[in-house]
Amino acid sequence: MKSLPEIHAYWQEHNTCELKSTATQAVLGDGNPHADVVFIGEAPGKNEDLVGKPFIGAAGKFLSEMLESIKMKREDIYITNVVKYRPPNNRDPLPEEKETCRAWLNEELAAIKPKLIVFLGRHAMGNFFPDEKISAVHGKLLKKKIASLPTEYFLPLYHPAAALYNGGLREALLEDFQKIPLALKKITTS
Ligand code: URA
Repeated sequence: MKSLPEIHAYWQEHNTCELKSTATQAVLGDGNPHADVVFIGEAPGKNEDLVGKPFIGAAGKFLSEMLESIKMKREDIYITNVVKYRPPNNRDPLPEEKETCRAWLNEELAAIKPKLIVFLGRHAMGNFFPDEKISAVHGKLLKKKIASLPTEYFLPLYHPAAALYNGGLREALLEDFQKIPLALKKITTS
């Protein structure tokens, strides 16, 4: 089994994502390599691309506040993105861009072995549950055996960037976030 630094070094060299040519750098997953919870976002934005760390802009600040509300810190979790390079002008990542980063993400998850995977938004969820709609399943603990993944438990949430400026989504996200500790408790006692 490769370590996280080995996984990142390998894929930074061997990844064939075309976004590499326009991005400043790869934005690697960040946080606790032994975390019980891994959060998966969509793709880096402008600040993340410049600094090389995920979720450091406005959406990241909102995420840190929500973590605080469940007595967790960024250092307690691991956070990464489906796509490791910034799409130009923050457009949605294309299916082939997600595909070229898929093995990278799966290896990260296999190395960390979280108990729970939290999807931040529809792109992260769609990578593993292509037939579900985020509006229908947000805040619901999903259980599914997926080959090569270390856990069967997934919690889809609205993306914090989408919820920042939309009152309805914000309320739903704040409420759904409280389900993270409940889900963890359920997983560890089942
Ligand atoms: N949005 C994401 O999905 N990922 C980041 O790293 C930043 C913003």
